[in-house]
Amino acid sequence: MAKPIADIIIMNAGELLTMVYTKGEENGTDNPLGMINDGAVAIKDGKIIFVGKTEDVVSEIEFSRDTVRIDANKKVVMPGFVDPHTHVVFKGTREREFILRHQGVPYMKILKEENAGIISTVRWTRKATFEELLDITKKHISEMVDWGTTTLEIKSGYGLNLEEEIKILRIAQYIKGHSPLNIRSTLLAAHIIPPEYHMRDEKYVDLVLSDIIPIIAKNGLADFNDVWCEKGAFTMEQSKRILETGFKNGLIPKVHADEMSDAGGAKLAANVKAISADHLTYANEEGLKMMKEANVVAVLLPITTFSLGKEKFADGGKMVEMGLTVALGTDYNPGTSMCPSMPLVMSFAVVRMKMDIISVLYGATLNAAKAMGMQDEVGSLEVGKRANVNVLNIKDYEEIPYRIGENYVERVISNGEILK
Ligand code: NIG
Ligand code: FE
Repeated sequence: MAKPIADIIIMNAGELLTMVYTKGEENGTDNPLGMINDGAVAIKDGKIIFVGKTEDVVSEIEFSRDTVRIDANKKVVMPGFVDPHTHVVFKGTREREFILRHQGVPYMKILKEENAGIISTVRWTRKATFEELLDITKKHISEMVDWGTTTLEIKSGYGLNLEEEIKILRIAQYIKGHSPLNIRSTLLAAHIIPPEYHMRDEKYVDLVLSDIIPIIAKNGLADFNDVWCEKGAFTMEQSKRILETGFKNGLIPKVHADEMSDAGGAKLAANVKAISADHLTYANEEGLKMMKEANVVAVLLPITTFSLGKEKFADGGKMVEMGLTVALGTDYNPGTSMCPSMPLVMSFAVVRMKMDIISVLYGATLNAAKAMGMQDEVGSLEVGKRANVNVLNIKDYEEIPYRIGENYVERVISNGEILK
């Protein structure tokens, strides 16, 4: 049989992290990261066609004059990062409140101000045309790619009416269709009560239930339906109705859970069979146990906690110990996390969430893919999966969290396209 001709071949990886946990295969010891020393990956038509030792690639794969050869020169090569929680479609920045916060003004108080908080971003975003917002979003995403992200979830939530939520989700859809990145989108109409519904919460919930959810779902504009369940946002009871209605319309639930207080978000996520519960800073043990039983992925967002200036971080180490699937994300948004960098997220997960390095690396790849229902397509290096590959300018994977804020991401390939 003729050998396939590779479009791209990456050779001589000092550590090729496949993220396929192998138990005691070669010499009896576990290989949790599925690491191959002196590894190679070959790519054809956007898919991975070979993963193994560099010395074995020639016997299985053909090269042509057009094959792009990348010499990894003993560096670390691993799957493209997966960011399962972002709010990247927004206009306007909020640096003033960031500074104010760190001088003592609480986030939940700023939210109530006229020209600050989520509502100010909603006003800016509503005013932007589709083209303008698309341009800004592309810039945000190109920063993420520069830090090695090749798969991302995109939430709406700065529109807060049917027309504007559609505009935001169309941007996500446009990027999905016009870039080699792997995208899933989430309706977050239940982000906060919009100003025109002030003191009329139930009227807005009605609009979400009867109009926004069914129309977004019918037009295939979102995969997931998310709610911020918190005092000052949506009550437990409202959140439940919104998530259940989404589910009936084919939108899989996600929850902004227990971010600022223990609001029972973890338990809610388990009860509605959410694919993930995100934040979980104040989640209680019972809720976490229920999440484990219901197979809900815990998505932790340490930069948000840091940017809020909080002492208490979600206890990622304990969640791993409890057997939960733990993923990591940036929460990229102008209010609580103006951060496109998964490497920085990983540093914080080690330092402030007491997570071990193996869990951190899974958190930024395969487990994050699980939080997006994409684990069969992305998040590990396996033959047949989408070719999302990073070459990192480091020699040892332990340098990933250790080099704080350094961009060692040297090459980024997404679906077989070289983006960096
Ligand atoms: O995930 N908590 C709610 N939503 C965002 C913040 C949005 C904003 O401040 O603009 C979050 O932290
Ligand atoms: Fe968020």
